[in-house]
Amino acid sequence: MELTTQQLAAQSAAGTIAHSHLGPLAPSLDHTEAFPTESLKALGRAGLLGVNIDERWGGLEAGVYAYVLAVRALAEHCAATTVAMMVTNMVAEAIQSFGNDEQRERYLSALRRGDWPALAFSLSEPDSGSDAASLKAIARRDGGHYILNGVKSWVTSGGHAGVYLVMASTDPSKRSRGISAFLVDPGLPGFTITRPEEKTGLRGSSTTQLVFEDCRIPASALLGEEGIGFKIAMSSLDGGRVGVSAQACGVAFAALRDTALWLAAPERADDPRQTVWRESFARHVAELEAAWSACEHAARLKDKGLPLTREAAISKLHCTETANRVCAAMIDIVGVEACHSGMRLEQYLRDVRVTRIYEGTSEVQRIVIAREALKASMRKA
Ligand code: CAA
Repeated sequence: MELTTQQLAAQSAAGTIAHSHLGPLAPSLDHTEAFPTESLKALGRAGLLGVNIDERWGGLEAGVYAYVLAVRALAEHCAATTVAMMVTNMVAEAIQSFGNDEQRERYLSALRRGDWPALAFSLSEPDSGSDAASLKAIARRDGGHYILNGVKSWVTSGGHAGVYLVMASTDPSKRSRGISAFLVDPGLPGFTITRPEEKTGLRGSSTTQLVFEDCRIPASALLGEEGIGFKIAMSSLDGGRVGVSAQACGVAFAALRDTALWLAAPERADDPRQTVWRESFARHVAELEAAWSACEHAARLKDKGLPLTREAAISKLHCTETANRVCAAMIDIVGVEACHSGMRLEQYLRDVRVTRIYEGTSEVQRIVIAREALKASMRKA
């Protein structure tokens, strides 16, 4: 299908920044764990922190298909910078959909100006990951404020984000229907951000805990109404999972690209193992292209405003599982050299691993797919 002008523009802007900023820095981010502030601000100024955000609020208004093209192009060069970009886009969409104009002006326009490198999303807690509705953070109303208490985990861009979208309960008796979403500014008394976690992959992306101890946040920080926070989180994750699919594919396409160059090197032209290598290479090219099609399908559904919960879960499951297999198989082809000679294959495998976990594990995706498929069967029966 032919790309629109906006889709081409988003893809090309992402490709340019990926080549100029992300690619050259990626190996050093992996070693130093430095946060890619300037690369992200460059993405923000190009509108790529709000690909599906209205132009009025500083976005590209280019849609979700453009977004996955951009994510894939970026992840082919640096998956760590890309995850910060993806979470920012996810939070920006939540603010656009559920926020008021004051919140949109304050947080979305700032991204385009390059004021902040990222926005953050905070749902998980030390004792609630997959069972997200069992979160314990609590926000108690106190006049014109809420008093926030609790600990949140695995927060991407912690310590660097301009604002944190935090899910906390305003009525624990209602479980998921008692969860509300808040836009919490950093620097408030009672809000502490811990030291970043030491991670296997995506080492340039900062992942922290947030600790709230009697933190007073203004009532105006509420996103939407009280009690809709779980729906905000789940609908955001539907879109987020399409982004993770594109990120995982991007990393795996990079692994194929680097392996193709290795296979084509003149000194290997007559190697008797070429047939075996090519058989594995071809099988993984085919598997990855099929997975990418699932990502494209989910993105196009969202562009049409159609439900995508099931397709986003299918896409995430296929793309992340396949991408992990591809990255591992390319190391099997290249052998020990994959970990030497400046090749990044071992980094791709470390970076891609978490895509099967965050924004809903593969097991969670299977739960969602089964539920949605059963609901559809019941409707037909
Ligand atoms: N869109 C909108 N609303 C939704 C929804 C969706 N996709 N899915 C569920 N809801 C609504 C339901 O309609 C229901 O509403 P009502 O009560 O009004 O009927 C409500 O939410 C509760 O739904 P469920 O009963 O299905 O909720 P559950 O507790 O059974 O959820 C689950 C189960 C699907 C496993 C869910 O907990 C889940 O997705 N867990 C994974 C969480 C996750 O992905 N965390 C990632 C955090 S972010 C991260 O990884 C870091 C990063 O950003 C990089």
